Amino acid sequence: MSKLIGRQIATSSRIQTLIQELVQEVARLEQPIATVRDSDPDLADSARRAFEEVAKYRGRPLFYPYLGTGAGQGPYVELEDGSVKMDLINGIGVHIMGHSHPKVIAASLRGSLSDVVMQGNLEPNHEYSLLGKKLVEHASRRSRLKYAWISTCGTVANENALKMARQKHSPARHVIAVKNAFAGRSTMMAEITDNPAYRAGLPEYHEVLRIPWYEASDGARSTERSLATLKEHVAKHGKDISCFVFEPMLGEGGYRHAPREFFVPLLEFCKERKIAVWADEVQTFMRTGELFAFETLGIGEYIDLCTVAKTLQCAATLYTEEYNPQPGLVAGTFAGSSASLSAGLAILEEITGGGYTGPDGKISRIHKEFVGMLDRLNETTCKGLLREAGGMGLMVAVTPLDGGRDTVTQLLHTLFKNGLIAFSCGRDPYRLRFLIPAVVTSKDIELAGRIIEKSVLEMA
Ligand SMILES: Cc1ncc(COP(=O)(O)O)c(C=O)c1O
Repeated sequence: MSKLIGRQIATSSRIQTLIQELVQEVARLEQPIATVRDSDPDLADSARRAFEEVAKYRGRPLFYPYLGTGAGQGPYVELEDGSVKMDLINGIGVHIMGHSHPKVIAASLRGSLSDVVMQGNLEPNHEYSLLGKKLVEHASRRSRLKYAWISTCGTVANENALKMARQKHSPARHVIAVKNAFAGRSTMMAEITDNPAYRAGLPEYHEVLRIPWYEASDGARSTERSLATLKEHVAKHGKDISCFVFEPMLGEGGYRHAPREFFVPLLEFCKERKIAVWADEVQTFMRTGELFAFETLGIGEYIDLCTVAKTLQCAATLYTEEYNPQPGLVAGTFAGSSASLSAGLAILEEITGGGYTGPDGKISRIHKEFVGMLDRLNETTCKGLLREAGGMGLMVAVTPLDGGRDTVTQLLHTLFKNGLIAFSCGRDPYRLRFLIPAVVTSKDIELAGRIIEKSVLEMA
């Protein structure tokens, strides 16, 4: 038993009192949040006022009339209007263990009870140290990644990765990225992101070179095309290229996955030409059936830099010995709150030790059941209206109806009204995107199927 006060905090009277209060609070709930529920007419006015207030102070309305009460259970979440929705987007992929998972809540409480609210890179506490250690231990099993720099969000982790690549290959300016990539919201990540709407009005820096993503319908020829474009860029820009960044599965770009055979020739070529290989796993981390998607794809040996966030409740840039930057290049006040670092650790432990990974793990089962449900609907009642269901692990998308932007937006709102929260990805076609929590049961998937069926037929 540690002699340090902080380590004993879990047994202190403060935590006992807090837990008692929480238990009483939970007991006060009239109904358990174990399935979807309609909104409460008595709460309609106050909920509308609350939504309007958000719009008033941020200058635009919320996409959904969603304001959570803070209560949730598994994939179900309670909103201010009294409704309970099935949350299959999870704050865009943050709540991988669903809502109120006991281990995550306990860890978050432990962190909250620390005397330090926020931790940073100058004065971190033991959660920070442990998180870095665990990330490196896992990553280094199947790659040469050796260090982890913790930060607050995917965009910052990506900026750090880019700086490491650029410093190592200084003064190389160019970055190779794929078509329809998404990389975050800073000026440079908006440049890597292949969506002009996300950088409207910003100056262009012309530092990003694109190669096509994999076309499943065109198999090996598609790989050859991407490799040929990569070679053209390298022929033209030579040593002025610092890195190749890719999402192991195209995320915002449409949930299109590519096989190992697509990546290997590209990554071999990058290695040959000393271009840093950077896997942006901000969305894929913990979700694809192995901890890292580079493990699922068997491409770990090529990775120089890897960024993770979302499910980790904070973010990190992982890097090899060669990319360890000079002092001063990466820093930043915040690494995360004690609660989020502690919860991130608990989630990491649960995903790696709780039977979630591997070909027979829970993630693989959920993927098969969920895609199977969508395919069945497409073949039966929703005939042809739910096409190309697929993705990797807990990331699943399907092209609904005509795949048009307005149609998909309308479908998302219909689903919301009927009790299910999803989001879109891709462009032409726009797709219906699910970031499924790793705790859904077969019963939850059946219910999701009924809501999707009802919503698609309502619109058709
Ligand atoms: C692949 C990818 N990279 C980077 C980001 C940016 O992460 P954040 O929103 O945490 O800054 C995202 C967010 O969706 C993402 O999906």
